[in-house]
Amino acid sequence: MKSINILLTQSLVQDDLVLKDKNVIILDVLRATTTMTVALANGAREIIPTESIATAVRVAKGSKNSLLCGERNGKIVDGFGLGNSPLEYTPEVVKDKALIFSTTNGTLAIIKSKFAKNCVLASFLNISAVVDYVNSIDEDFTIICSGKLNDFCLEDAVCAGMLLNKLSAGRELEMKDSEIAAMNLCNDLAMLLNVPSQEKILRLFNISEHGKYLSSIGFEKDLEIASKLDSYPYIPLFRNGVVKFKEMFEGESSQKSKMKRVNIGVKKEEVKEK
Ligand code: MLT
Repeated sequence: MKSINILLTQSLVQDDLVLKDKNVIILDVLRATTTMTVALANGAREIIPTESIATAVRVAKGSKNSLLCGERNGKIVDGFGLGNSPLEYTPEVVKDKALIFSTTNGTLAIIKSKFAKNCVLASFLNISAVVDYVNSIDEDFTIICSGKLNDFCLEDAVCAGMLLNKLSAGRELEMKDSEIAAMNLCNDLAMLLNVPSQEKILRLFNISEHGKYLSSIGFEKDLEIASKLDSYPYIPLFRNGVVKFKEMFEGESSQKSKMKRVNIGVKKEEVKEK
């Protein structure tokens, strides 16, 4: 690994092919990557991110046992089953369901990574697990901060800075202005807010534009959940159009290889009989 690039808003990805064969980390701390991690941990079968409400509705029509999920301006989309508050994604509601997602910024960032070699979703909930995953691959990565409506957002940038701080330990990484800015922003806030890390993150949310907005429309509890550092140590991967935990994909591939062995076994038996 020589470099970890940070794109401070997903609008900087002008063409999906820019990320072709790249390793990508997606951040939408308030709230898409936070909520998706909670939803999968609570038993959702898979998450299908879509680039628009219309696409989400169309995909849901063809999906069994699915729920339409997402927000516009932070509030549930009319006609959807769930909004984008992690509090809504309880085991009783999401277990074994396919969640068809459309949010203002987060799902757009994920969809733009459809040609990536590896794409992992990160937030403060799983930051250390994501660092371990990135270290296990040990190749260059691009961190995409979803931002808000094509603008910079503080919480994604600070989370990117914290990721970079952890990943640069013991490494001489090439850094440009975005990486230097994100790391210093994270370090300065850590110095400024001399309270425990989780409290620092909650304070960060309460001074951020979107954090203040979410509180103003009744989602202050979402900020508390999103601030709980490493409370969900899972690796949500975006692969073949769906988001699942890494072990869910691995479980599927080992099942497929077992089936292949069984089929080959059956074929061999048939050949012997002939
Ligand atoms: C986004 O996609 O920008 C966020 O998830 C919006 C939100 O949930 O408030």
